[in-house]
Amino acid sequence: MIVTIDGPAGSGKSTVARLLAERLGFRFLDSGALYRCVTLAAIERGVPLSDGAALGRLATGLRIAFGEGKTVLLDGVDVTTEIRSERVSTNVSEVASKAEVRSALTGLQRRCAEGADLVCEGRDMGTVIFPLADVKVYLDAAPQTRAERRRLELSARGEDVSVDVLVARMKERDRLDSSRETAPLRRADDQILVDTSGLTIDEVVDRLSGLVPPGR
Ligand code: DC
Repeated sequence: MIVTIDGPAGSGKSTVARLLAERLGFRFLDSGALYRCVTLAAIERGVPLSDGAALGRLATGLRIAFGEGKTVLLDGVDVTTEIRSERVSTNVSEVASKAEVRSALTGLQRRCAEGADLVCEGRDMGTVIFPLADVKVYLDAAPQTRAERRRLELSARGEDVSVDVLVARMKERDRLDSSRETAPLRRADDQILVDTSGLTIDEVVDRLSGLVPPGR
């Protein structure tokens, strides 16, 4: 059983998908963390973010692993906080737009579904990585709501950025993610649209778990 949850930044995907996986007892894949790891590695190693071939080679050679809870390990180092920093967030769209990077990460993502039920979240989970998934969801929310969520997330980590700046950055990231040639962010006809704007996290998780056939 594979449940895919796609949608833009701040739609609530990560939180909701993680809780849904817990509730169902499924494995969980945060695919954005993979693109964030490649971005962090590229920045730190001085790989030009415009060089798709070099980024693809870099991505192929990285060891990315998920540890306990939300922990993400990059070549054995805990990068959980670092991959969520604004320095990574503002550059990740460019890295994720490279076909070489996307293909380098495809096998890794598909292997997550081997021998386990899976809830995964990202931008192309239902369209490209798992087109035959059992349940496909597209989560969305108003830009203002999404920016406010992001502001709270950053401020909890001591990074203070205004909502206006975040709305602008979010729109720019949406534009880049939706207009890129390879695996653009888009809602496919077979994805169930859930707008999370006026909903609490629990309400969204309830709604999504209602979409998963019982007894699985
Ligand atoms: O979900 P997130 O904010 O952690 O994703 C970070 C970036 O990675 C986002 O700008 C788009 C990209 N991404 C992608 O292109 N495909 C995915 N499946 C997941 C994320």
